[in-house]
Amino acid sequence: MEKKVTKIGVLTSGGDAPGMNAAIRAVVRTGLYYGLEVYGVMRGYQGLIDDDIYKMESRSVANIIQRGGTILKTARCKEFYEPEGRRKAYATLKKRGIDGLVIIGGDGSFRGAGKLSHEFDVPCIGLAGTIDKDIAGTDFTIGFDTAVNTAVEAIDKIRDTADAHDRLFIIEVMGRDAGYIALHSGIATGAEHILIPERKTDIEQVVDSLLEKEKRKKLVNMIVVAEGDGFGGAEEVARHIKEKVPNADTRVCILGHIQRGGSPSCLDRLIASRMGYQAVECLLEGRYNVFVGIQNNKMHYIPLQNAVKAKGKISEEWMKIVRILAS
Ligand code: F6P
Repeated sequence: MEKKVTKIGVLTSGGDAPGMNAAIRAVVRTGLYYGLEVYGVMRGYQGLIDDDIYKMESRSVANIIQRGGTILKTARCKEFYEPEGRRKAYATLKKRGIDGLVIIGGDGSFRGAGKLSHEFDVPCIGLAGTIDKDIAGTDFTIGFDTAVNTAVEAIDKIRDTADAHDRLFIIEVMGRDAGYIALHSGIATGAEHILIPERKTDIEQVVDSLLEKEKRKKLVNMIVVAEGDGFGGAEEVARHIKEKVPNADTRVCILGHIQRGGSPSCLDRLIASRMGYQAVECLLEGRYNVFVGIQNNKMHYIPLQNAVKAKGKISEEWMKIVRILAS
């Protein structure tokens, strides 16, 4: 028999992502609907270790569905990845009688939760939340859609000035391990090249194609680079291009953390609300130690300890589309 969950904690962990607040709201309100006590844990796993926790009511999550960031704050907590850190975290849970935990974050946060549940038998549910969309087994992660739209809006603006000056822009978007933001925003803005960690960057091929376009006087050129691309990011790419294509008036723009902020898109609010509701359903049904993702518009549950980065899942056809449409 699964034990009955009565008091649950919710936390956000790792890089924040727009829509995390909508997910917190959904967890709190669904938990209260089913008569559970709900506790907010501050700064991710650090709040468990430090016992920085407060009881949440329906009003605690009023007026947050549209806000970026996370009202619970977040952290990348190294201490929790050590056994002693998890022991302290468990001591807090035990002291407070919290018998179920919802973790909104990425694959690293899920593996940490998997260890906690394995070592101390704490039911944990993960919700896929990261702008990078780099978690295997889910078509969406909370925050990705907003981040991509932020990048598209910014790149469109860069295109205006690139066009006015006939310049070449190398634009860096976020994605330390994954190229999804680069690929989606690059295709949506008509980038000439998209450089991502999942593909080896052939810089000479980029140079050749720029020289060829120079010959036929193709004017607006934008290259979108994921920060984790193997050649070394936008600065390195620009340094090489300036050397090999000296006639191009080349500029670099690194979009950075603006991609992590802002009001979540409708899609992010929706998936966050659905996932948050589902997390509580999972705890009540005894479907423990999984993270909630979405596949083919249906909820999908993956064991926490199997959480891995979605590496190498970039479709070859998408890369072909980039090449054809940039010609
Ligand atoms: O949240 C994921 C991410 O945005 C990555 O794309 C990026 O490399 C990283 O976080 C940046 O993290 P930090 O804000 O801790 O520097």
